Amino acid sequence: MSQHELDIVVKPAEESQLDFLEEVFSPGNLTKPQYRRFEVQKKGEGVYLIAWHTGHPIGHFLLRWSGPKDPRVTQYIDITHSAFLEGGLTKDDYRKKGVATAIIREAEKLANERGCTHIGLEVSSKDNPDAKRLYEHLGYIDWGYGEFEISWEYHDKHGTSIRSDIVIFMQKPLGQ
Ligand SMILES: CC(C)(COP(=O)(O)OP(=O)(O)OC[C@H]1O[C@@H](n2cnc3c(N)ncnc32)[C@H](O)[C@@H]1OP(=O)(O)O)[C@@H](O)C(=O)NCCC(=O)NCCS
Repeated sequence: MSQHELDIVVKPAEESQLDFLEEVFSPGNLTKPQYRRFEVQKKGEGVYLIAWHTGHPIGHFLLRWSGPKDPRVTQYIDITHSAFLEGGLTKDDYRKKGVATAIIREAEKLANERGCTHIGLEVSSKDNPDAKRLYEHLGYIDWGYGEFEISWEYHDKHGTSIRSDIVIFMQKPLGQ
């Protein structure tokens, strides 16, 4: 079925939307991920893409013009002209309707216009096979150098915890 079956509009986030986006996407997350991702856009380092359906935000990905900076990736991959997708999510009720596909296609278009030759992302191949399959269908290729661990801090009303994931890097050439 076509992604256009669901009327999806993908646009960069706007500062005035951030409280609303926090409420919809990250309630209770005191690290304020929507604000942090918007900061990347504000600094000119990327675009925080939001998918909307009939005025409701239903998904997001952060597109960086270059990344990741992690030396475990950069020892093998030249990220100078490789865009990077992170922070992808579609609201539960809107999954498998083409929302992530629409955002990723827009991200690839923007990255290509920006002069990026490649675009990459990290995904947990064992815990998130559905996401990995989606990326494969969109042309992303397992980099072949195996898994590595990423971790980040999470704050909520119960305090601070460290969350982690075992991921692989996937990459796709642009402009073909
Ligand atoms: C991974 C994630 C972002 C995918 O989002 P999504 O909006 O469901 O993705 P899409 O709808 O574009 O694609 C998912 C599948 O649905 C299929 N699909 C798209 N439109 C469809 C439709 N109208 N009818 C049936 N299937 C459809 C796609 O072809 C795709 O199938 P595939 O996996 O076999 O390629 C979402 O599952 C999610 O938020 N997961 C939790 C957070 C997460 O894992 N983030 C990614 C970390 S790397």
